[in-house]
Amino acid sequence: MDWTRYPRRIAVTGGAGFIGSNLLLSLVPKYPEYLFINIDSLTYAGNLANLKAIETADNYYFEKVNICDFAALRDCFEKYGINAVIHLAAESHVDRSISGPAEFINTNIVGTFNLLELARESGKTGPFRFHHVSTDEVYGSLGETGYFTEESSFRPNSPYSASKASADHLVRAYHKTYGLDVVTTNCSNNYGPLQFPEKLIPLMLRNAVAGLPLPVYGDGMNVRDWLYVADHCQALDLVFHSGIAGKTYAIGGHNEITNLELVKLLCRTLDDLLGGGPRENLIRFVQDRPGHDRRYAIDASRIQKELGWRPEHSFEQGIRETVQWYLDHADWLESCISGEYLQYYARNYHHRTAGST
Ligand code: NAD
Ligand code: TYD
Repeated sequence: MDWTRYPRRIAVTGGAGFIGSNLLLSLVPKYPEYLFINIDSLTYAGNLANLKAIETADNYYFEKVNICDFAALRDCFEKYGINAVIHLAAESHVDRSISGPAEFINTNIVGTFNLLELARESGKTGPFRFHHVSTDEVYGSLGETGYFTEESSFRPNSPYSASKASADHLVRAYHKTYGLDVVTTNCSNNYGPLQFPEKLIPLMLRNAVAGLPLPVYGDGMNVRDWLYVADHCQALDLVFHSGIAGKTYAIGGHNEITNLELVKLLCRTLDDLLGGGPRENLIRFVQDRPGHDRRYAIDASRIQKELGWRPEHSFEQGIRETVQWYLDHADWLESCISGEYLQYYARNYHHRTAGST
């Protein structure tokens, strides 16, 4: 097959995960002139069923490849003549990084290194853009006030955020040392359809519908800045196309809310839509996460001023649509709950001490 009729042959790593699948669902139909190769090893978090709507598109291919396997990755780059990467593949759950950090080091650091090496090699024969998708968690924790910006110091507090920070540094070094055309985005917490139900919002929705306890860590006063996943994908599209090489872009929703308030909002939304409740009575304060970051908040002025990005979804609208999506896709939620997930849950949650509100 002659792939060169596609001017851009983009490897999207982690395309079967939450953000990756939302991104591919929007980019594949939007850019028929590009070829998209979804490179994903299908861990517990990867789900090809997410991509049903595009699986037969002419400009979309899936390759089951682990980014830690350099030889397999190189075959894939050669097969399609890859000339751009949007890198999302990662171990992404903080709690898992605490109970088992090794996979985070392998995938998030060594996997990123492998991709950078192949980008460097491929970049010798033509233009090559490397977009690294990262998190605001690399900056550590904020106090009551202030915001993270692109200039904030790195102070990661979990094995997850430390492994992402390491990858961010490698990406920067490949630009400075080898002149690789890189852009990095550091985004706040995403929410929306297709998020694996170990993360706060889908976990709480699943439990609340089933009448199970809602485990809020610590005092529930930790603050996150939530962004609807479609708005993140829109930002990734803009930065991939128009971001300045070597720059980083902080992305956030200006939607700060404590975990406790958010869980209560989810409960009230479910009570409205389904009747019954009040589901707030299911809230249980449980043992805190070690090293739990208190507050994240992003100042997204750079991407707003330089690239004209603004989130399109209000928090109220995004949350309502999200709750409705999980109610309409109860089968999808249950399909995620594999034996592996249940074993992990049993290993790590049995020790949490339950108290009530
Ligand atoms: P996710 O856990 O839902 O998906 C990760 C995907 O990567 C899965 O499909 C998995 O199979 C794949 N994967 C994991 N290890 C792999 C390996 N070794 N080789 C190939 N594929 C592998 O994650 P997500 O929430 O979609 O996050 C995607 C990216 O965005 C991550 O890099 C994460 O750090 C970053 N990010 C996430 C958020 C968020 O709120 N979810 C916020 C900011 C940044
Ligand atoms: P999470 O979705 O794991 O994202 P992150 O740790 O990357 O921010 O958690 C979001 C917040 O919710 C975080 O402060 C931890 C908290 N949390 C709970 O209180 N209970 C839970 O069961 C989970 C999964 C998270």
